[in-house]
Amino acid sequence: MDADEIRQAFLDLMVESGHVVLPRATLVPEDDPTTLFIGSGMQPLLPYLLGADHPAGTRLADSQTCLRVQDIEEVGDNRHTTFFEMLGNWSLGDYFKAEQIPQFWHFLTERVGLDPSRLYVSCFIGDAAHGIPKDDESAAIWTRLFAEAGVSAGRAEVDTEQQAARVGVGEARIVFYGSKNWWCREGGPEDMPVGEPGGPDSEVFYLFPDVEHDPSYGEHCHPNCDCGRFIELGNSVFMAYVRTETGFAPLPRRNVDYGGGLSRIAAAAAGTSDIFRISLLWPIVERLQQVSGRAYADETLAMRVIADHLCGATFLAVDGVRPANKAHGYVLRRLVRRAVRFGLDLGLEDDLAELLVPTVAAVYETAYPEVAAHVDDVVAVLSREERAFRRTLRRGISHLHDYRDRGVTGAELFVLHDTYGFPVELSTEEARRSGIAVSDTWRDEFDAQMAAQRARSQRARPRPPGPGTGRHH
Ligand code: ALA
Repeated sequence: MDADEIRQAFLDLMVESGHVVLPRATLVPEDDPTTLFIGSGMQPLLPYLLGADHPAGTRLADSQTCLRVQDIEEVGDNRHTTFFEMLGNWSLGDYFKAEQIPQFWHFLTERVGLDPSRLYVSCFIGDAAHGIPKDDESAAIWTRLFAEAGVSAGRAEVDTEQQAARVGVGEARIVFYGSKNWWCREGGPEDMPVGEPGGPDSEVFYLFPDVEHDPSYGEHCHPNCDCGRFIELGNSVFMAYVRTETGFAPLPRRNVDYGGGLSRIAAAAAGTSDIFRISLLWPIVERLQQVSGRAYADETLAMRVIADHLCGATFLAVDGVRPANKAHGYVLRRLVRRAVRFGLDLGLEDDLAELLVPTVAAVYETAYPEVAAHVDDVVAVLSREERAFRRTLRRGISHLHDYRDRGVTGAELFVLHDTYGFPVELSTEEARRSGIAVSDTWRDEFDAQMAAQRARSQRARPRPPGPGTGRHH
């Protein structure tokens, strides 16, 4: 099954089990100023998870486009992207573990056809300090499902990933972890903001036996190891708590919040540990191979970064974001500029948006026809940004390399930013790639220059006194 078929199979199964399928929300949240982008399927549903009635009922599902830019510099391995689709289903005070876990299992093993003996799961170990019990209930359901499939499923308890890497989990298939199996939008049970909902979760991992464990991630491999031998396919959150000043209170209704990575499930289905090989990303990589005359095997990093960033940039532009110096527009700018920078590694001076946006539109033709409908606008927006950046890129890079021997300070990075429009994250990344030392205090030095410049520009453009003079727009 390719990714389109998997998405459809999921939504079909959801309809069969009484869910209403919602359209994707745009990447920029409509009524949630606390976060720049939709980073998980539950975000647009937050008020309903907290107890409000949803007009479509208590069983909802969708495939939600998401953007996570926290780890933008890690894009390039076999499974991380900034842009991805999360398959989701929700029970708003309706079914709970006994229905959710078998439903996800059925989807993976029957509808997608994954081999049950490649699946591993994790459950919450419990938090005595907050009175939250160990999730034996989920573990018992998993034990039964594995047994029915003829797969033995031993257990291990490790609390932290560090402990798991140190002592190993043996042959265990059901592994109990601590805060790793607690889900909320940010932080763990200790540092969740008051009012934030969360709860224990149970994740499912797929084992790629051909991928060797990389000991730089710790002595032993285990489901949550980051070496790439296991990849997480999906996560069922049993969202039953809300953070209070003193601890946790039960939510008015217990919810299920399930999210699954479409491209990761598609990779498992295709038997590849490289998500860039699946039907949503490979056509873009192929196009890059064709226009650059280089092979993916030789230029893996650059092609992965460009493919991911162009998808993210395309959807941002479709959803109305325009390049700017702050907030959403700055992220769009960063995605485009990083893609352009990696394009240089492929010897590509051509306009990436013109080359690739039509391919992105073709990939999403059935699922998200709005991309095809906006191709011309998107190309125009992204190309303008590319052109402006290309003019300064080469000069900026060669200037940065002037610091090769003595390293670069935050004040010098500021000059690069100010003169060449080099985003500071890009220059620090470039410095790291090229082995140019960056001073430990660069961030403070950079921020000080930025503040001084802001003060200078305010003096240069005095505004008449009156309301609103404190803010510049
Ligand atoms: N909201 C949960 C997650 O993002 C499902 O993992």
